[in-house]
Amino acid sequence: MNHFLDIHTTDPADLRAMIDSAAAMKAARAGRPKGTPDDETPLAGHMVALIFEKPSTRTRVSFEVGVQQMGGAVMVLKGDEMQLGHGETIADTARVLSRYVDLIMMRTFEEATLLEMAEHATVPVINGLTNRTHPCQIMADVMTFEEHRGPIKGRKVVWSGDGNNVFASFAHAARQFDFDLTFTGPEPLDPERALDGLYTTERNPQRAVEGADLVVTDTWVSMHDPQSARERRHNQLRGYQVNAELMAKAKPDALFMHCLPAHRDDEATSEVMDGPHSVIFDEAENRLHAQKAIMRWCLGV
Ligand code: CP
Ligand code: NVA
Repeated sequence: MNHFLDIHTTDPADLRAMIDSAAAMKAARAGRPKGTPDDETPLAGHMVALIFEKPSTRTRVSFEVGVQQMGGAVMVLKGDEMQLGHGETIADTARVLSRYVDLIMMRTFEEATLLEMAEHATVPVINGLTNRTHPCQIMADVMTFEEHRGPIKGRKVVWSGDGNNVFASFAHAARQFDFDLTFTGPEPLDPERALDGLYTTERNPQRAVEGADLVVTDTWVSMHDPQSARERRHNQLRGYQVNAELMAKAKPDALFMHCLPAHRDDEATSEVMDGPHSVIFDEAENRLHAQKAIMRWCLGV
């Protein structure tokens, strides 16, 4: 059984096959209304549960639409409306859901919750974001880069800002897809030590982006961060804003990505988000195609 829990724990050849499959599925249904099924409907007869313990727009909608395009059925479960949020164990929830559904996608806080769900489920489990990682997002990001610029192998990706969960999955992807990753941000917001060796650090953002093929950022305050940290983080990160001046230091054809939701004119200016380097809405769309490939891989269909 294939769980999709993290990029570094998934075989690089499988990851590559998923990106290629996503691109092929995207091309095959280009221009059709979003609600029409694909020519192939490999999820026919399959029921998928989506569990959200945190808010979501892209993850929820892209999984729901993706399952439907592939002929499956989907249900969305909000954590606080489940018994899980009222004392039932994760293990029992995993065992019970496995009797009703064929695939579980979970967005949660602690990574341990996701891992416990996977340990006790008898159906595949997909990581829809934890405090530590966001692998589905980075699959879409790799797909988006390659759609615009060809193979990501050997390219230079620069992350400017908080060393957070989305960065962690980029670091995992750097190893599996063999690209160079540079982190630029303030020391207190460095990525966790477990990622050492997967990226290089350059504190000066202007120097960091020299030669970059892709510049990426994310919100300065993630969903699991205390709101009380907001002002301090803004002060720490202001110098790492991705603006036109910073993008001008990257390669002339560098791309700009942001997983969204964005706080416009904090971590990136609207000028960059809506400017010629930006592929943020292709990136959002590709969540759909990438996750369809991930679900097929999980189910072996
Ligand atoms: N990028 C992303 O995961 O967005 P949502 O929080 O809207 O799902
Ligand atoms: N780092 C952000 C990503 C949101 C998709 C968060 O965890 O809130």
